[in-house]
Amino acid sequence: MNYRHAFHAGNFADVLKHAVLTLCLAHLGKKANKPFAYIDTHAGIGRYDLSGSEAQRSPEWRDGIARLLAAERPEEVDRVLKPYLDTVRALNGGTGELTSYPGSPAIAAHMMGRSDRLHLCELHEADSVTLDRLFATDRRVKVEKRDGYRALKSLLPPKEKRGLVLVDPPFEHRDEMAHMAEAVVDAIPRFDTGTYIFWRPLKDMWAAERFDVGLAEWLLAEQGLQPEKILRADLWVRDPASEGKLSGAGVFVVNPPFTLEEDLLFVLPWLCDLFARDEDAGWRLDGGITEDSLAVDEF
Ligand SMILES: C[S@@+](CC[C@H](N)C(=O)[O-])C[C@H]1O[C@@H](n2cnc3c(N)ncnc32)[C@H](O)[C@@H]1O
Repeated sequence: MNYRHAFHAGNFADVLKHAVLTLCLAHLGKKANKPFAYIDTHAGIGRYDLSGSEAQRSPEWRDGIARLLAAERPEEVDRVLKPYLDTVRALNGGTGELTSYPGSPAIAAHMMGRSDRLHLCELHEADSVTLDRLFATDRRVKVEKRDGYRALKSLLPPKEKRGLVLVDPPFEHRDEMAHMAEAVVDAIPRFDTGTYIFWRPLKDMWAAERFDVGLAEWLLAEQGLQPEKILRADLWVRDPASEGKLSGAGVFVVNPPFTLEEDLLFVLPWLCDLFARDEDAGWRLDGGITEDSLAVDEF
C-alpha cells in the first residue's frame, strides 16, 4: 500500500469528487429528524496539511482547489459549489487562507448533523491511526482499520435506512476496477435505496467503460433501477489516454439527488475551462443512463 493521498489532495479530481459528495450530503441532510449514515470505504487521513512535505512537493492542489477559490465564479456555479467551498473555508478557520484541505471524512463530518453517523474504513496502518486521532472526540464517528470492500457486507443496510456510501480506492492495482465491481454487486442489493458514489480514474479507458457499462446494465436489468437513478460525471484536463499524471477522473453515482444532473450541468463545463491543461480537455455528464446511452467509443 504505497498510495499517499497527501500528494493529490485538493487536485481537480478531488474537486469534482468532493463537490458531488457535498451535493449528495446536503440533499440527505435536508430531512430534519431523519438521521443518515455515511460510509467511507477508503477514507484516507481525513484532512491534509497543505504546508506538509507531500503537498509542497506536489503542486496538484494549486491547480485544483487553490485555482478554484481564486477564480471569479459565475453566480450559478457559486450556488452549486457553495456547500463544498463553505466546507473548505470553514475547515481553514474561515480566514480565506488555504492551509489545509479536507478529505472526504472531514467534509462529511462538517456537513452532517448530531444524530448522523460516520463509518470510516482505512486499511493503511499509520493512516488509520491518524484518522482515528482526528475524530477522537467526535462520538458520531467510528474509524476502522479494515478492508472497506469487506466492511460493506456488515455495514449495509445501515440502521437508519438512509445513507451515502463513498467508494474511493487508490487504484494502485490493475484489478481494482474488478474489486470495485464485485463490491457493488454485493452491496447494492443489501441497501438498494442508498446513494453510492464510485470514484474512478480515466486512465485505462477500456477498464472505466467496462465498469460503467457493466454496472449500468446490471442496475437496470437485474436490480430494476430506473435510468434516472444512475448518473456519471467525468472531467479530463488533457487527453485522458495520455501517459504520466492523472489526466481525467470522475464519479458514477447510484441514486443521486434528483437535482444533481442539473447542478453539475452548470459546473462541469466551467470547471473544465478552469482546469484545462490543453485543448484536449473535456467533460461528460450522463444522467438517466440507459444501456444505449453509454457508448464505449465516446472519446
Ligand atoms: C484515494 S484515497 C482516499 C481519499 C479519501 N476518500 C478522500 O476523498 O479524502 C484511498 C485510501 O484508501 C486506502 N486503502 C487502500 N486499500 C484499502 C482497502 N482495501 N480498504 C480500505 N482502505 C484502503 C489507502 O491507504 C488510501 O488512504
